[in-house]
Amino acid sequence: MAGFLIFGQDPIQIMEKKQIGFELTIFNNIEELSQTEQKLLTDAEKARENAYSPYSNFKVGAAVLLENGEVVIGNNQENSSYPSGLCAERVAVFQAGAIYPGVTIKTIAISATSKDYVVDKPAGPCGNCRQSIIEYEQKQKSPISILLRGEVGPIYKCDSMAHILPLAFSSSFLSDS
Ligand code: THU
Repeated sequence: MAGFLIFGQDPIQIMEKKQIGFELTIFNNIEELSQTEQKLLTDAEKARENAYSPYSNFKVGAAVLLENGEVVIGNNQENSSYPSGLCAERVAVFQAGAIYPGVTIKTIAISATSKDYVVDKPAGPCGNCRQSIIEYEQKQKSPISILLRGEVGPIYKCDSMAHILPLAFSSSFLSDS
């Protein structure tokens, strides 16, 4: 019987493998950040306190810094019908888009706490928030840097949403132009 596989012989290798990485800056103390970044993170921490999160007991605050110097905040807003709630990051960037349409977003700071335990490591934005934020990055054609912190512990900074959402979907896929 004729066969297509010859055992003991390697198949023809046509694939290519690529490593995709990004640079993460880790600060162990808020004083290591620039004054502007320190204030933005503090704004996110303050915003966090007004989160409405009776179901998860997890509070997230976000503060968005715009090119015009304005800071727009958001926090997570939960709902008894769970999927109807919204994350802090999207509340913040959508609010920024609503109040300051077309103004470039420079940075988003995100801070998280829990009623149940001490959040001692940065909580990265969920996939939906990454996609929502990268929409603005693609639209404005400039990177949005991200500052992350739990309640205590290290601060993570990355320089672009594209770094933490590789192979992202974009409007370029919606037409061939
Ligand atoms: N949450 C955020 O606000 N941002 C994220 O990126 C992840 C999760 C909120 C949603 C929900 O209110 C709670 O945290 C627990 O998932």
